[in-house]
Amino acid sequence: SIEDRISLLMKEMTLEEKVGQMNQYNGSWDVTGPKPESGSNEEKYNNIKKGWVGSMLTIRGVKQVRAAQKIAVEESRLGIPLLFGFDVIHGYKTISPIPLAEAASWDLEAIKNSARVAALEASASGLNWTFAPNVDISNDARWGRVMEGAGEDPYLGSKIAVARVNGFQGKNFDNTSIIACAKHFAAYGFVEAGREYNSVDMSTSKLYNTVLPPFKAVSDAGVRTFMNSFNTLNGIPATGNSFLQRDILKGAWGFKGFVVSDWASIGEMVTHGYAADNADAAKKAAIAGSDMDMESNVYITELVQLVKKGQVKESIIDDAVRRILRVKFELGLFENPYKYCDEAREKTDIGSKANNDDVLDMAKKSIVLLKNDKNILPLKKSGVKIALIGALANDKNSPLGSWRIAADDNTAVSVLEGMQQYKDNSLVYEKGTEVALNKQAFVDEVKINTTDFSGFEAAKKAAKEAEVVIMVLGEIGFQSGEARSRTQLDLPGNQQQLLEEVYKVNPNIVLVLNNGRPLALPWAAVHIPAIVEAWQLGTQSGNAVAQVLYGDYNPSGKLPMSFPRNVGQCPIYYNLYNTGRPTDKDQNVFWSHYSDVEKTPLYPFGYGLSYTSFAYKNLKIAKPSFQKGEKIEVSVDVTNTGNFDGKEIVQLYINDPAASIARPVKELKGFELIELKKGETKTVQFILTDNELGFYDNNGKFLVEPGVFNVMAGWNSNDGLTGKFELK
Ligand code: IFM
Repeated sequence: SIEDRISLLMKEMTLEEKVGQMNQYNGSWDVTGPKPESGSNEEKYNNIKKGWVGSMLTIRGVKQVRAAQKIAVEESRLGIPLLFGFDVIHGYKTISPIPLAEAASWDLEAIKNSARVAALEASASGLNWTFAPNVDISNDARWGRVMEGAGEDPYLGSKIAVARVNGFQGKNFDNTSIIACAKHFAAYGFVEAGREYNSVDMSTSKLYNTVLPPFKAVSDAGVRTFMNSFNTLNGIPATGNSFLQRDILKGAWGFKGFVVSDWASIGEMVTHGYAADNADAAKKAAIAGSDMDMESNVYITELVQLVKKGQVKESIIDDAVRRILRVKFELGLFENPYKYCDEAREKTDIGSKANNDDVLDMAKKSIVLLKNDKNILPLKKSGVKIALIGALANDKNSPLGSWRIAADDNTAVSVLEGMQQYKDNSLVYEKGTEVALNKQAFVDEVKINTTDFSGFEAAKKAAKEAEVVIMVLGEIGFQSGEARSRTQLDLPGNQQQLLEEVYKVNPNIVLVLNNGRPLALPWAAVHIPAIVEAWQLGTQSGNAVAQVLYGDYNPSGKLPMSFPRNVGQCPIYYNLYNTGRPTDKDQNVFWSHYSDVEKTPLYPFGYGLSYTSFAYKNLKIAKPSFQKGEKIEVSVDVTNTGNFDGKEIVQLYINDPAASIARPVKELKGFELIELKKGETKTVQFILTDNELGFYDNNGKFLVEPGVFNVMAGWNSNDGLTGKFELK
């Protein structure tokens, strides 16, 4: 068995070689994080030869991977193969929509397939491990990394996380499947005020009910690795957090894979004020269950001595090494260390037509129609004079979004290119304004243009002469992602002014948004007749947008995160707790609200329109009361009442109005994506079990409490048909 093979191998290993398995080196210097001090490439290669390296990150390409693997396998004493990790976050070369956008599809098959395409390409480039999926729940749009997750809801987030893991890992680890990594464990999405790398203070109940569900779901689904995170949780860095890594993950959940640290996060425990020096950090991280050190370079320098001095038990090292070796055995690397080094596949499987078709499909499914007054959309296909305005409309880089390290720059289809394919309309393009003055990743803060108005007049002229104006506005690709927190959620630079100026000459505007996070656009929501949320949709972005605008694809996405009215509302989310004074029923000032803006979001979680319309009827709950453990059937009839065939995401929410710990006002507990022809009706059935009705208390104990439950079958988190039942 694999366990026997690991035991045999470990008997041969010196302490140095064991610690070596826990060491991960970066293969290049230009990726992310502070410049590491792990030495020159020559030193790294020598350490691989000595068997002091378990994994490399960011090396890619069959030639490079083969070269590094060859040193480990053919020149080190025991020939233990390396793992090659890389941030394959939303595609490798052929880029899918950013993960938050994909989440808006609520289409688990499509999301799984998108991860499959990414795995297919990454594995063809020699890689066997992705640092994805990011399963961080977050409800604060100020945090730049919301673009990498699945939004604010733990139920939807769990389903999507599992779909992604299954897509990456495939079934039997053939050479098109790669190891997935659930990150960032844990609570990184709740950094204070959306400030990057910050602290998190959170109740145990909230941790269990909101943060942990996607991690638990992927652990159950067989994800092989976890990455811990940069933040502290209640004062203890996640990287040195035994409660998270030992008690919960490896203890209660029985996780058999290994935990990699985040980049330099072990060393950063010193700066956090949790470790005295590197040795102390290495000791605390290893004891707490961080199995592999990504670029802190402290395991390789400190752990052997710590064991020799008796400060870290060798059994801790043995456990980590066993976990790492287990993954290598499961992947089949001992049988064939070069199984991902296939030059022929590298040529055929990367950037193929099939992959592009798949990411186009995903991109269309990710688009959310936020507003469509007077059915301005879809556009007529001939005889219409269109003005297309906005620098982002002619941008082939931004749609690739953040975290697409292997993609070639400027390889996305722009909206302009997509629109140009519909030749029977006249199309005039004007930039109007530039969004950003520099557009490089990882270099500096993005410098936004606030002073150059020189393109406004030409844009207004084009708009004046057009029947319909399409304005593509929003964030550039590198304005979200790691270390891209924002204190404003408006249209960056002078784009809002451009929008308002153009509106004065022609209000018939379709606003196409490009963004990696929810934006706050209250003026547009009131004045602009049509708004299309097109995120950053990847390589096929412009084709997807054009097909939706022209009605060749009827949009069906629904928001996975609430969109605020202004940044001061953040964090804003649908599954909030009630207050004692949620409404102004007494007509005085003393209720929970802002005095300068409504308390509701601009667009709630689960919101999205279609070119057709749907009517909900007949919410049925099988019985008025149920016994614990019984299956509770809830059904609703949905009819397509409009003029197009379409898809609808039917959502089921519950609320437990009296519990031993107050529960959120609503919680998503089911959803179904259905297709309805014009005039067609379908009955959608949901089953609720104890799993959906229960919750975790402040000891991490799962409780299912009797009492009344409210139910809503909704078309978004705010609107739907309601009913109730009792649990005896
Ligand atoms: O995987 C990432 C992580 O999400 C953030 N820090 C760097 C890692 C490796 O690039």
